[in-house]
Amino acid sequence: MKIQKLNNKDTYPMDLLLTADPDPAMVAKYITNGECFAAMEENRIRGVYILVKTKPETAEIVNIAVQSQYQGKGIGKRLLRDAEYRTKAMGLKRLEIGTGNSSIGQLALYQKCGFRLDKIIHDFFLEHYSEPIFENGIACRDMIRLYKMM
Ligand code: COA
Repeated sequence: MKIQKLNNKDTYPMDLLLTADPDPAMVAKYITNGECFAAMEENRIRGVYILVKTKPETAEIVNIAVQSQYQGKGIGKRLLRDAEYRTKAMGLKRLEIGTGNSSIGQLALYQKCGFRLDKIIHDFFLEHYSEPIFENGIACRDMIRLYKMM
């Protein structure tokens, strides 16, 4: 499996990106200033992430998603490692990611990959998303921010 940068925004896998972030307006906003990287196998996209340089010395993974039938096979971990590699290569010191309070599996994955808890943005999802989000029987209200130093 090869992870490569997608240079043409028209080739971004919008359906897949929307599985990680259900708000098309939000996705449209960050694809304008982010770079998109895709895990390719047999010329097909199996997984994707978007990396944005945010503050000085900091990048953020604003979206990460793996095709449902390929989840649980290590592709997400590969994408996170690739994001770290690219963050370091850009000379940045800190990589961040945010997820919902209801995203139990994602919180596990990010911590298994060395991300530490940073802060909570209370009511982020209530304020920024028009539709309610439920996962694992939990209402998604707050954003949990995580970071990893390079
Ligand atoms: N408790 C403990 N560990 C859990 C867990 C739980 N409830 N749920 C998942 N995990 C762990 C797995 O055990 C695995 O770790 P391991 O290899 O040590 O066993 C890891 O999380 C998953 O790793 P991996 O197979 O590399 O992830 P993936 O390819 O399935 O990709 C996502 C992860 C999140 C990108 C993928 O599930 C996805 O696309 N989800 C939908 C979109 C999404 O939610 N994106 C993130 C938005 S914040």
